[in-house]
Amino acid sequence: MKLHKSSPSRKLSAAIVTPIFILLVLALVSLYDMTSSNRYPHIDRVSSSSSSASPATTVEYCNLTQGQWVPDDEAPYYTNLTCPFIDDHQNCMKFGKPSLEFMRWRWRPDGCELPRFDAARFLEAMRGKSMAFVGDSLARNHLKSLLCLLSEEAQPVEVGTSPEIDVTGRAVRRDYHFGNHGFTISLFWSPFLVKANQSNATLGQWDLHLDTADTRWAAHIAGFDYIVLSGTNWFLRPSLYRERGRLVGRNDAAGIAGGGNLTEVVSVPVAVRAAFRTALGAIASREGFRGKVVLRTVTPAHFENGEWNTGGDCVRTLPFRRGERALGAVEAEYRAAQVDALRETAAAARRNGVEMLLLDITEAMDLRPDGHPSRYGHPPGGSVEGSFVVDCLHWCLPGPIDLWSELLLQMLIAHPS
Ligand SMILES: *[C@@H]1O[C@H](CO)[C@@H](O)[C@H](O)[C@H]1NC(C)=O
Ligand SMILES: *[C@@H]1O[C@H](CO)[C@@H](O)[C@H](O)[C@H]1NC(C)=O
Ligand SMILES: *[C@@H]1O[C@H](CO)[C@@H](O)[C@H](O)[C@H]1NC(C)=O
Ligand SMILES: *[C@@H]1O[C@H](CO)[C@@H](O)[C@H](O)[C@H]1NC(C)=O
Ligand SMILES: *[C@@H]1O[C@H](CO)[C@@H](O)[C@H](O)[C@H]1NC(C)=O
Repeated sequence: MKLHKSSPSRKLSAAIVTPIFILLVLALVSLYDMTSSNRYPHIDRVSSSSSSASPATTVEYCNLTQGQWVPDDEAPYYTNLTCPFIDDHQNCMKFGKPSLEFMRWRWRPDGCELPRFDAARFLEAMRGKSMAFVGDSLARNHLKSLLCLLSEEAQPVEVGTSPEIDVTGRAVRRDYHFGNHGFTISLFWSPFLVKANQSNATLGQWDLHLDTADTRWAAHIAGFDYIVLSGTNWFLRPSLYRERGRLVGRNDAAGIAGGGNLTEVVSVPVAVRAAFRTALGAIASREGFRGKVVLRTVTPAHFENGEWNTGGDCVRTLPFRRGERALGAVEAEYRAAQVDALRETAAAARRNGVEMLLLDITEAMDLRPDGHPSRYGHPPGGSVEGSFVVDCLHWCLPGPIDLWSELLLQMLIAHPS
């Protein structure tokens, strides 16, 4: 069997600063800088910002993934009244989340200031271009946050009328167009990134073809300038793993009843790593694609005193302070699996002129137990079709998830297409 054991978390990062704007490149790493060796080399080639007025000079390194949340009087960027794109499940203002303090923080990396989101600049950088978000409901959560941030500057129009509906009831693809900028953002529902077949609906069991990218998005790769990949949560569902169509493993959740005793148990991060490797590989090798792929790392949940289905909740009203809590072992393992997949496909990407970037939000978001809907993603006692009764996984809008687009903007500036 070709699945590899996942290896320990690898360190990476990079940064730049211009003297005036202190613009920085992320913990986002240009994989052009990577060797095929087993470790990440320290990134020392500093990219310049696109600000042509001031040639970038390295004055210091700033690791954008390392920092703390500090109070912010200017926040939030938008509210449930100014943004029409907030899904009810994340509309914490509407459903009366008791403390709205969670909206009043910004991320401050150690050693530099992260510039505020600039919708005009984002739209200018994406003029005439297209961006795809591929993943699960957290990819949608991110996309909605970005639409809200951008709608302060320009209103997108949803195009396309009758989308294909997935076996789980979700639209496979949705498109939003910013007419004045010729910019299109698309959302692809593909929670496993690879070909997946719900092989037993009663058991909620999936057959995952770990070596085959899901064509529902992969068929459209060449049509995009940027592709943002994410996902991990769905891999916890009962799953049988296949390669070349043949059964090669299963996860713990896939029990004997599902035919799961036919094969060995594979740890979930190993499957996550294989799926991301396949997805990244499909982009790296796609004829005609000369864009950039952004891998957004795993986003942590904050259920306490139980899990999502055993009475867990997230009632904290403040971010964790630095050092108050170490990154959970599970998140660290998933993040490492994703980073490994990126490293494993870097050489192929380089050969084909495809740039791969890491949008590393895991540590920053781990400090935000206060930013989830909890039980305020629906009316009291109301129906919660398609989400949790108590949701400590998705993020309120506005809220800490807006950081993802602040970081994404810095990426676009540092790595123009
Ligand atoms: C940047 O910060 C992240 C998160 O703390 C860490 O994992 C990574 O090792 C740091 N990178 C460098 C080069 O210090
Ligand atoms: C917005 O939130 C307020 C409470 O802050 C609520 O009264 C109102 O109904 C909400 N409106 C929308 C459109 O979500
Ligand atoms: C999905 O799995 C079921 C059960 O194994 C099978 O009957 C069905 O043909 C599969 N569908 C696809 C599209 O592979
Ligand atoms: C799904 O699993 C149930 C429970 O074990 C079993 O009774 C049923 O036959 C399975 N269905 C398929 C299509 O395999
Ligand atoms: C799987 O487990 C069931 C129940 O214990 C057993 O009846 C069946 O023979 C097993 N199948 C294989 C291939 O081991």
